Amino acid sequence: MDVNTASIINGKEEARKVREELKKEIEELKEKYSITPGLSVVLVGDDPASQVYVRNKTRACEEVGIRSFNYTLPATTDTRELLELIDGLNRRDDLHGILVQLPLPDHIDEREILEGISPMKDVDGFHPFNMGRLVTGAPLFRPCTPAGIMRLIDSTGYDLTGRDCVVVGRSNIVGKPMVFMLLERNATVTVCHSRTRGLSDKIGKADVVVVAVGRAGFVKGEWIKKGAMVIDVGINRTEDGRLTGDVEFDEAVKRASYITPVPGGVGPMTIAMLLKNTVESAKRRIGERP
Ligand code: GUN
Repeated sequence: MDVNTASIINGKEEARKVREELKKEIEELKEKYSITPGLSVVLVGDDPASQVYVRNKTRACEEVGIRSFNYTLPATTDTRELLELIDGLNRRDDLHGILVQLPLPDHIDEREILEGISPMKDVDGFHPFNMGRLVTGAPLFRPCTPAGIMRLIDSTGYDLTGRDCVVVGRSNIVGKPMVFMLLERNATVTVCHSRTRGLSDKIGKADVVVVAVGRAGFVKGEWIKKGAMVIDVGINRTEDGRLTGDVEFDEAVKRASYITPVPGGVGPMTIAMLLKNTVESAKRRIGERP
């Protein structure tokens, strides 16, 4: 009988460690430079999921000692009005990070908004400047979810050099930046998406699988190669109200060497890395970082 069961990567614990590290760095910034890192969070409209995310971000800021400034605008706000707010935030010296919660209402031009945020305050790492920096191997701000995934992989001591990695999903927020962070570590990367043929074969050959498609149980546990690492970015709500990932956990856990659970895997890391980017931004301002 096969009794293999994967080590569960504890994202909640790793995120707590990141926050503890940041608390110390923030205290030092306050003592040495009288600087308190500041993050502004902009929410347009009243999407309940976005409201929860924004509340969690604010709470996490408070916990580590980052000053947070929330801006909640009505769903009727237009692109120009939002750009004006961002322009004001770009100019403020007490703000080191600007985050505009996505998705934005359909009538707002998302690209124009993301390009309106100063790249030096773009703690989400979504501005084309920051994306371009990542792609060309000189990242400034790294998008938070894939950056959190890299930290989780590192927490296991796994060496990515020469490993076959499959990223499922090609979003600007997760899939695409993930590819370049894995490349940066000398992995061999394949990107799969909704039009990919032979997905199960490709996944079956992978040493590391990162799945970010937003569909419950999309990747079958039996596709996973024995001993592979499985990173599940999905957060899906089942009919009975539970949270579940994009990978069939119960089957995958029997085959994988390491696996992230949902909840408690990748999820908690995203906000932790947002806080980290904000602190980095404050340090960059005073010349403590290149
Ligand atoms: N919506 C879903 N994920 C994210 C994120 O990481 N940043 C922002 N700004 N919006 C999101």
